[in-house]
Amino acid sequence: MRQPTRKHLTITVIATLIAITAWVLLRQPASTTSITELAKTAPLHAQTLSEKLIPETDLPPPGTRSLFDHLIVQNDGLPYPFEKLIALLQKQHPEGQTPVSLLIPHGRSLLKGQADDARPRIVVAADYQTGNTPVALGTAPQGQLFLGFVENAKEIEVLSYNEAAGRFEFQLVQNYCEGCVPRIVYARRAICTTCHQGATPIFSQRPWNETNGQQATANAIAAARGDKPYHSVPVRQPLSMPERYDQLTDVGNFLKATQKLWLEGCGAEGAECRRQMLSLALLYADNPGGFDAKSAEADRLRQLQAASFPKDGVTVPESDIHNRDPIGEKQGFKGWLSSLVTRDIRFGEGAKDNEDLGQFDKLPPLAVDVDPLTLRAPKQVLKATDIDGVYGVAGFFTEADIKTLGEQYGFDIRKLRAKVAALPPETFAARPLSRVAMMNALLDKPRQYCCLKTDEMSPPVASGVPPLKIVRNLQLKPYEEHCFACHRGNPAKRLDFMNGENEDAVLANLQAKKEIRDALDWERYEGTDKASKLMPPRDSVQYPKLKKAGPEFRQKMRETVPGMFDF
Ligand code: HEC
Ligand code: HEC
Repeated sequence: MRQPTRKHLTITVIATLIAITAWVLLRQPASTTSITELAKTAPLHAQTLSEKLIPETDLPPPGTRSLFDHLIVQNDGLPYPFEKLIALLQKQHPEGQTPVSLLIPHGRSLLKGQADDARPRIVVAADYQTGNTPVALGTAPQGQLFLGFVENAKEIEVLSYNEAAGRFEFQLVQNYCEGCVPRIVYARRAICTTCHQGATPIFSQRPWNETNGQQATANAIAAARGDKPYHSVPVRQPLSMPERYDQLTDVGNFLKATQKLWLEGCGAEGAECRRQMLSLALLYADNPGGFDAKSAEADRLRQLQAASFPKDGVTVPESDIHNRDPIGEKQGFKGWLSSLVTRDIRFGEGAKDNEDLGQFDKLPPLAVDVDPLTLRAPKQVLKATDIDGVYGVAGFFTEADIKTLGEQYGFDIRKLRAKVAALPPETFAARPLSRVAMMNALLDKPRQYCCLKTDEMSPPVASGVPPLKIVRNLQLKPYEEHCFACHRGNPAKRLDFMNGENEDAVLANLQAKKEIRDALDWERYEGTDKASKLMPPRDSVQYPKLKKAGPEFRQKMRETVPGMFDF
């Protein structure tokens, strides 16, 4: 063997030096947090009052549902494809504006390995409140409804507020793809809250390099897929878009803090404290500029809080994660060095759905300070002397609410507050704060609200229940292909008539729905005033397929459902 030459030695020395420099410069430790482990750990402390009254169960507390479910029921089912869901939110907006939406090709969500520049993750935030009418209160989705869609994973993640239960619901729309039967399920919260640590929305801080509000990211998307909008979301967004999105996640996050202040801050017996908090909140909402946080009345709230406030304070969860710049990370000398010691996520790696935690853990780790799994210190720790509950409670009411109350009380805030003072203590018993319940306590005549009743909804479904396998009743197959997408798992009970736990139950339910025969009788009803009742709907992706299958195919389907007069 030859002796190593001088040249070899020099190369070895240089290589070693580079490796050492890389290690020194990039000492920013890599995260070792495992999502699999985190999702298992239970909280270490005894349950607080708000944890007891707002439980962290996977399914929503009985008799309550997410805003998302209500929205879907009100609109007869889940629209497909995704741009139609976006259009639905736009339609609800009083001025018809599109929701706040962003593209995130290389993000940090659970499904990050399934997105790329060609099919980036889409996040959407509703940004509207609807007006009240003389008989009904409007909705308040601003800061209360968020979507995250990863097309390659065929999955929409949904985070929306549950008015009656006082918490955000974590849901998934699985199998959301063309010709598929989507399933709307409630996710395992323990998984979601590894990153969404307050059980609330989260988002990065400025300057939001991961989003297409930044030119470099938008350019990369445009290079991969052209400049045409992706599911109606523009490839280039102004920086004001992630900024607004960030604000909306903060609004949502503070709902949680407000519930804690309302319940724990005032305590189990704190009806008078909650009364004072509401009274001040209405005063603040009436005239924010004129509000005096040092007034005797504000001090009265401080005194009431002092009697019950948890001694360690009330924490506001940290909903902001540090900015991360996936493109910048690769540039310059540091980027080159970093490429020597780390590798990128290859497309398609990692979790393919929200149960795939083992695969997620195999991805190259992020640096600790940008890893959403890293346990974050609270954004704030509030004390009995803080009256942030006042601002939080004020934020529960919409602009329209303040106007409605004004109209009822002759725009005299003293009269409104006299009413608050006169409400029975029961109104302020320890239960989650509900804007709708409070409005109705304050109004002479209670008004309806679209999104509370659950008796017309099909039962909520937990994730992990296996989809239906049709092996015996093969006559169900065409229904699976052409109808299940909208009539199985539809949150609206009246449209959920193809549901059922097993094949036989599904067949029985389907056969009990006589209207199906008519809905499939295109020959008879086309061109008549009943044409709009023909199924599938004209604008659905299922329609052209069933049309292609031909009239005999539809006739066969009809035979599955016995006619009214058959025996
Ligand atoms: C590994 C960390 C992680 C886990 C686990 C996780 N998320 Fe997220 N999620 C994020 C990050 C980071 C964002 C914000 C940026 C983005 O979307 O890329 C986000 C955003 C969202 C959004 C958009 C609203 C918002 O908060 O900005 C929804 C909806 C969402 N997640 C739902 C879920 C659901 C449902 C689960 C559980 C099944 C879940 N997430 C689990 C990291 C995670
Ligand atoms: C893209 C979604 C979609 C698909 C696919 C679809 N439907 Fe419907 N279906 C609806 C909606 C929405 C309504 C409610 C229409 C209304 O009330 O005006 C409805 C209503 C019906 C009704 C009337 C229910 C009632 O009690 O009023 C029947 C019956 C029906 N569908 C049968 C079918 C059959 C059979 C198929 C498959 C061949 C099918 N649908 C496919 C969305 C769909």
